Amino acid sequence: MDNNFTTADFIRSKKDRRKITVLTAYDYPTAKILDEAGIDCILVGDSLGMVVLGYQDTTKVTMEDMIHHIKAVVRGTRHAMVVGDMPFTSYHTGVGDSVRNAARLVMEGGCRAVKLEGGEEFKDEIRAITRAGIPVMGHLGYTPQSINIFGGHKVQGKTIEGARKIIRDALAVQEAGAFAVVLECIPMKLAAFISEKLSIPTIGIGSGMECDGQVIVTHDAVGLFRDFSPKHVKKYANVGDLIEQSAKDYINDVQSKLFPTTGNSFKIDDEVIDIIRREF
Ligand code: KIV
Repeated sequence: MDNNFTTADFIRSKKDRRKITVLTAYDYPTAKILDEAGIDCILVGDSLGMVVLGYQDTTKVTMEDMIHHIKAVVRGTRHAMVVGDMPFTSYHTGVGDSVRNAARLVMEGGCRAVKLEGGEEFKDEIRAITRAGIPVMGHLGYTPQSINIFGGHKVQGKTIEGARKIIRDALAVQEAGAFAVVLECIPMKLAAFISEKLSIPTIGIGSGMECDGQVIVTHDAVGLFRDFSPKHVKKYANVGDLIEQSAKDYINDVQSKLFPTTGNSFKIDDEVIDIIRREF
């Protein structure tokens, strides 16, 4: 392990106007591929719940789920900074619980920072986790753990009051010590304004090109999750279609005895098999 992208690199990248790249991963092989591709940061997001575990939303993901998947991602990562998502209710029951749970993600999972959703109302938790030595990434705008409050996946911050709240939240999260903040599905001009106002980098998802970095759910970007595709996603590949075609080719090969061939099989001396045949 020589993970070398750090929170200082987040801040430096913003100063240098170098865009920060973040992708999600939930397992060892994907993490390894993203890391070898040169990604700055791998987020083990609680999008895990939907794109890997098959839940309707992120609210069913547990601490144990997160730790299990963070461990796998950390094993596959050398360069990128691994950030682990704090799951629903793991930071909602008091500052003590939030520090304990953030510490579990770091100590048991092995990630180097955590992400949590929410603004002013979680500034005490962000401050306490940071004070414990764990860097915190904030997450504002459309925050998926609050889907039952929002009443569905909706762009946030379009009204004056909505925009004011996100700006106040962004300033509060920065003030509490967060090293970066995800802005999810807010209007691009609002995201540009917040990016200008903050000294910490903004990482956009569905929030336009003026954010200091971008994050996307890898399973959406490579077409592995096919249940639905949000408007903000750019699809770089159709891995799901490739897997489906490969499975069809495999079924056909097995049934028509095209696979395995002798090249995929192991040899035995003829005299050994002759003796075996005589014996049984
Ligand atoms: O869970 C996740 O993958 C996330 C990103 C979409 C930012 O929070």
